[in-house]
Amino acid sequence: MKTGLSLLNTMPADASPSHPGQPGQRELVLRVMPMPADANANGDIFGGWIMAQVDIAGSILPARLSRGRVTTVAVNEFVFKQPVSIGDLLSFYATVTRVGRTSITVHVEVMAERDPENLHVVKVTEANLTYVAIDLNGKPRPLTT
Ligand SMILES: CC(C)(COP(=O)(O)OP(=O)(O)OC[C@H]1O[C@@H](n2cnc3c(N)ncnc32)[C@H](O)[C@@H]1OP(=O)(O)O)[C@@H](O)C(=O)NCCC(=O)NCCS
Repeated sequence: MKTGLSLLNTMPADASPSHPGQPGQRELVLRVMPMPADANANGDIFGGWIMAQVDIAGSILPARLSRGRVTTVAVNEFVFKQPVSIGDLLSFYATVTRVGRTSITVHVEVMAERDPENLHVVKVTEANLTYVAIDLNGKPRPLTT
């Protein structure tokens, strides 16, 4: 029976153009630009909006690796390092850090491209999230099936 890391080595070659998802391999999984409706009373982007995007971004590799449905079981760490502004172009990078029997843990880093006239990129958020592969009844599903 293949489990854990060996599962990653059985990924189909067409899983993605660059064969991503190996532990430690960082992949761009989402890009999005927050709009005024996503701002809080300070004029910065609402933390809850960022958390929702991180949750979506973090689920991409687990869904691919598990070849099916996943659900978020835990947000192990979440750090807002810099405020996010309307119009920042956010890039979400994911790295698989652990593969268990039914769960996959992912590190997500969010980089913001800002100020097009003097372009610079800053890390605004990072988080660790764990997803569980689930069956049609919402029960944990071994990653080998
Ligand atoms: C995720 C869920 C299906 C897990 O069911 P469960 O009966 O608790 O399953 P288990 O106890 O067997 O744990 C399943 C896996 O999750 C892991 N896990 C459970 N709690 C965890 C935690 N707090 N942190 C990290 N991993 C955790 C277990 O270690 C196990 O991993 P492994 O199989 O790789 O060893 C269930 O808790 C659930 O449906 N939760 C709600 C999910 C949800 O709605 N998320 C959306 C956000 S609201």
